[in-house]
Amino acid sequence: MLFNLFKSMFGATRDPAADRVEHEFPVERLRTVLKAHAKAPRAQHLDILFSEMRIGPHAIAEFAEQCVRDSSAQTPPLKAFHRPLASYFLARYYLYSLALDGARAECGVFAGTSALLMCRAAATRLPQYDGSGLHLIDSFAGISAPQDEDLIAVRGNDGQGVVMKPGFEGGALASPLELVKRTMREYAGVAIHAGWIPAVFADLPETRWCFVHLDVDLFEPTLASLEYFYPRLVPGGVMICDDYGAPMFPGAHRAWNQFCAQHEVPFIVLDTGQSVILKVPA
Ligand SMILES: C[S@@+](CC[C@H](N)C(=O)[O-])C[C@H]1O[C@@H](n2cnc3c(N)ncnc32)[C@H](O)[C@@H]1O
Repeated sequence: MLFNLFKSMFGATRDPAADRVEHEFPVERLRTVLKAHAKAPRAQHLDILFSEMRIGPHAIAEFAEQCVRDSSAQTPPLKAFHRPLASYFLARYYLYSLALDGARAECGVFAGTSALLMCRAAATRLPQYDGSGLHLIDSFAGISAPQDEDLIAVRGNDGQGVVMKPGFEGGALASPLELVKRTMREYAGVAIHAGWIPAVFADLPETRWCFVHLDVDLFEPTLASLEYFYPRLVPGGVMICDDYGAPMFPGAHRAWNQFCAQHEVPFIVLDTGQSVILKVPA
């Protein structure tokens, strides 16, 4: 499903004359990378890069890809090398959080791939881990309506000029709740909250949080999630945003930058484009 979306965004054939125009728009840059990855010996690259990078006993590339398969998702060639590294970083922060008190959350679940990965990573340390205290939050009706902050520059239809458009329309990336329930069936303690951010936060227990994964792509739900969770984050707690560096989703890093500047929150940006807050004690 996700693969088809990527294909429709980046896979369209173009007039060869257009390829002579300097690539400067996000969709065009990504299309170039997708085409390159599609032709390259990806399995060999993955082996060279990641065969010794492990979460517990599991080599990360295969571990991450198994979670993709077990959630009925797909990894488009564009994401082939991003996925193992971003999964490794996500799993490392999740494992770190196991030593902290507090609940855990993921905002933006899609088919449950990253949620499954976090739980399976935890199970490498805690064999009886059942996901208790992990809250998964999603509309299960796709992304909400993009705002001005979410628009990206695309080439005009005539090959000239610039048009501002959302990377994806509202309703894209919808995945049914039943699929996530099936994906997460090994982890009976996981709580799933279906609804729109921020309204759905009313369903959450009033508690302290030690780990929050933000993966909602857009300005408004990213900002709303930061505003809800950061004040409730325990000292040493972690918030990770998957989309900070995503070229198709500029709204996420705008929201993150705005929130962190306003509240003077220090953060880092990893080379995968994930941004991370480690809350320092007051
Ligand atoms: C990129 S997907 C999440 C991918 C998932 N974390 C993974 O790695 O497998 C983004 C998700 O955010 C959800 N989403 C976007 N805007 C939302 C909003 N305002 N409220 C609730 N969910 C939203 C979409 O439904 C979609 O499932």
